Amino acid sequence: MAKDKVRVTDLVRMKVERVPIAMLTAYDFPFARIFDSAGVDLLLVGDSLGMVVQGAETTLAVTLDEVIYHTKMVARARQRALLVADLPFLTYQVSIEQALASSGRLIKEGGAEAVKLEGGITMADTIRRILDIDVPVMGHIGLTPQSIHRMGGHRVQGRRPGKTAGCRERLLEDAAAVEQAGAFAMVLEGIPSELAREITERATIPTIGIGAGVGCDGQVLVMHDMLGLNESFLPRFAKPFAHLWQDASAAANSYIREVRERAFPAPEHSY
Ligand code: KIV
Repeated sequence: MAKDKVRVTDLVRMKVERVPIAMLTAYDFPFARIFDSAGVDLLLVGDSLGMVVQGAETTLAVTLDEVIYHTKMVARARQRALLVADLPFLTYQVSIEQALASSGRLIKEGGAEAVKLEGGITMADTIRRILDIDVPVMGHIGLTPQSIHRMGGHRVQGRRPGKTAGCRERLLEDAAAVEQAGAFAMVLEGIPSELAREITERATIPTIGIGAGVGCDGQVLVMHDMLGLNESFLPRFAKPFAHLWQDASAAANSYIREVRERAFPAPEHSY
């Protein structure tokens, strides 16, 4: 693990040197501080915040202002990790001008060091134009949650052969387009492991997988999945490294019981 601040320019070197890249989402100060101190390489303020923080069914309603609000908190906590912020749905697809203005706000107001957007071939020109204003871009292809209605749900992509959106050969083209457009890395979400490995071997930029197997250059998890902060559903790819939902629930139960029994506050908690 590098001690120094992680920069966009370090990531290609990590790929070349085969140093696995660890990325996590974060949405607030304390968790960003914990993950940064633990040595995570990238922190992502994902639009997944719509689902895991706001309790929505999809990421679609997340606004740019909301991502900026959370990015500011993470930026205050972050010391070492590279901070990437998501461009939410309909804050970059309408026009190039919109994509530049939204990306600029994530950097200027949020304190992000790079932005992430979903899409392959169709987003290549947008990626190029954002890079023209010197904002680094991370791509995101495969299961792209902003395309939930096209995909018919959060479904694994790239299983079927073909060149239409979500099919195998199209994903290979999407990956090449994202790289050629100048992205510094790309997320591969919800695709078969062998396809992710093929994309990773062909690409000169790092791939960061989520539900894409061990053959990627790095991995990303949504922090709530990594910490077991889910009430029930946990997707197959998400390994909980802790069980914070149960821990928090047990703590709340103990607190309520002690308040009701007048066991808390004890003399040592009182003035
Ligand atoms: O929004 C998000 O958290 C993401 C990750 C799942 C990569 O895009």
